[in-house]
Amino acid sequence: MHYGADYNPEQWPDEVWPEDVARMREAGVTMVSLGIFAWARIQPSEHEFDFDWLDRVIGLLHEGGIAVDLATATASPPPWATVAYPEMLAADEHGSPYWHGSRQHYAPSSPAYRSLAAALVRRIAERYAGHPAVVLWHVNNEYGCHLDVDYSDAARDAFRTWLTNRYGSVDAVNAAWGTMFWSQRYGSFAEIFPPRHAPYSHNPGQLLDYRRFTSDMFLECYRMERDIIRAAGAVQPITTNFMGAFKPADYARWAAELDVLSDDLYPDPNDPEGFREGAFHGDLMRSLKPGTPWLLMEQATNAVNWRPTNAPKAPGQLAAQSMQAVARGADGILFFQWRQSRAGAEKFHSAMLPHAGTETRTWREVMSLGGDLGRLPDLPADDGAARVALLFDWENWWAIENPDHPTSLDYLSLVRGWYDAVHRLHVQVDILPPTADLAHYTAVVAPHLYLLTEPAAANLVDFVEQGGHLLVTAFSDVVDEYDRFRAGGFGTQLRDLLGVVIEDFGALADTGSAGPGEQRAPVAGPGVAFVGSILAEEAHAVDARVLARFEGGRQDGRPALTVRSHGAGSAYYLATVPDDDGARQVLDHLFTAAGVEPVYPGLPPLVEAIRRGPLLTLINHGREPVHIDVQGEDALGGGEVRGVVLRPFGYALVLISSLEATEPCPPAVPGSR
Ligand code: GLA
Repeated sequence: MHYGADYNPEQWPDEVWPEDVARMREAGVTMVSLGIFAWARIQPSEHEFDFDWLDRVIGLLHEGGIAVDLATATASPPPWATVAYPEMLAADEHGSPYWHGSRQHYAPSSPAYRSLAAALVRRIAERYAGHPAVVLWHVNNEYGCHLDVDYSDAARDAFRTWLTNRYGSVDAVNAAWGTMFWSQRYGSFAEIFPPRHAPYSHNPGQLLDYRRFTSDMFLECYRMERDIIRAAGAVQPITTNFMGAFKPADYARWAAELDVLSDDLYPDPNDPEGFREGAFHGDLMRSLKPGTPWLLMEQATNAVNWRPTNAPKAPGQLAAQSMQAVARGADGILFFQWRQSRAGAEKFHSAMLPHAGTETRTWREVMSLGGDLGRLPDLPADDGAARVALLFDWENWWAIENPDHPTSLDYLSLVRGWYDAVHRLHVQVDILPPTADLAHYTAVVAPHLYLLTEPAAANLVDFVEQGGHLLVTAFSDVVDEYDRFRAGGFGTQLRDLLGVVIEDFGALADTGSAGPGEQRAPVAGPGVAFVGSILAEEAHAVDARVLARFEGGRQDGRPALTVRSHGAGSAYYLATVPDDDGARQVLDHLFTAAGVEPVYPGLPPLVEAIRRGPLLTLINHGREPVHIDVQGEDALGGGEVRGVVLRPFGYALVLISSLEATEPCPPAVPGSR
């Protein structure tokens, strides 16, 4: 289990470094991420490299027994680079550049950027590939953060190449995008531009491809650096830090390219439901690379600096959120950052070592967490405890949020609505792409798969045929992978499975809006009563049992929730977006059919329970102490457990079967204690 933080010694005089190492040892730190924003310090000008300071820092860390996650430092090019090569600056949709003076202002497709980054990474990798302190490589930092989409000339040129590789001919692009519409036909690739500022709606196929292209450009940068590190002879695992479900980068495609996944997580301490974000991140990381432990690479010890108001964490919240990650397969807990900065935009951001020093609650909590992590036994990565899968798809995310739809949907928040509903029921869940192997699951929740490819649809049909229980929700199976209707319109692939025909999507007025129109769609049936919003589809049950109907309003009497049995399995359809209690009621139907059980019985609402092999983690996110009747052995070495009292943000780590029963996995990162 690794413990540590981003370490930015370049912000401090040399004499602070030995004190840092001593304090790190005190806190139980085992690994730091070094040099993430140190490009300007390593390479003060194009032909000048200074590694002396880095040699000394790595040497000090190594002497202190602290391992290094060595960064490639390519996330923030120095001013000399963008002055010499202004074509490497990213640009907004007006073509206006993002200047230096902040960070992450480079165009990922720029040959100039890539060439400078490659030269830097080569020097770093050749110098440190064999250094015994280096146990992990940290490529770039948070690819795509601050720069959702780049519209620069570099992107324009690279987009044309990308399209040529994807489609082969400009006619194929015209066909995919449907460019006979609005006279958009292209005569050559040279006529195609990024979807820059325009008077009205862009072509949706072009927008979707531009998202694919953007994700691919960042991935190409990652691959370039990874390959340089390997070519230098490095054998350590390589990672780059993810940000949970992050729209610009299709992590489901990226995951296979990383040896170890790592994640950055910053839930708002003011949000009493914020802990579900940590749960979602952790379940996503575990699911993206099954069977491989991951690292919580960044979180805050206390307040951040970048929200309109930056609340401190409550006492105990830091450890509770860290244990959420360990419970879901993390083999390392790290922070941004080790020592709080004296200058710069993040000087108010908390750190392991705050400005106020060691006589602080933050430091005490940092020490205590380090102690607990140090006492944990080796744990397996994941023994496939989840029987429920929630389907989540980046390409669908990009397509469903294209403009000019029946209504605007926030895909992530809709998926999170379903995730949170599952989490409230204390049911363990994996988060998977729609083409994932579903054989292991008994229930699948598939919210709003607007863009549904043929292989994904076949996968869902097959899942139900094999006896699985599936929930499909409104505005699904609408378009193909080019964001076009298929011949026959929408619903062409799941219609038979669901036994439902949709005639219209029935957009409702925005909840809480002052304008005219229905905002709510009440739904009722035997044992079912809730309110839908956003969509109330005009659905016809042609071969399905109706479990609940819309009551009143435009769709009065029409099916809202249906089920069709198919072999040993069943397929549910929900023609609206339910409120929280409605989601619970729908899941009750699905989980009863599928025989899904909570991780642990009888838990209070704000206690979460997670299985990781023999380890049962119980965390109280509520403000009241609770007693849980659980038996086993304390994983932190406290002996036999016969019931636990969890104070607010308290946790219990209980081995509920003998550890010998499950082989611990090899560590994600060598040198873990
Ligand atoms: C991101 C970055 C870090 C730091 C933190 C602050 O996660 O990777 O460098 O800026 O945000 O919360």
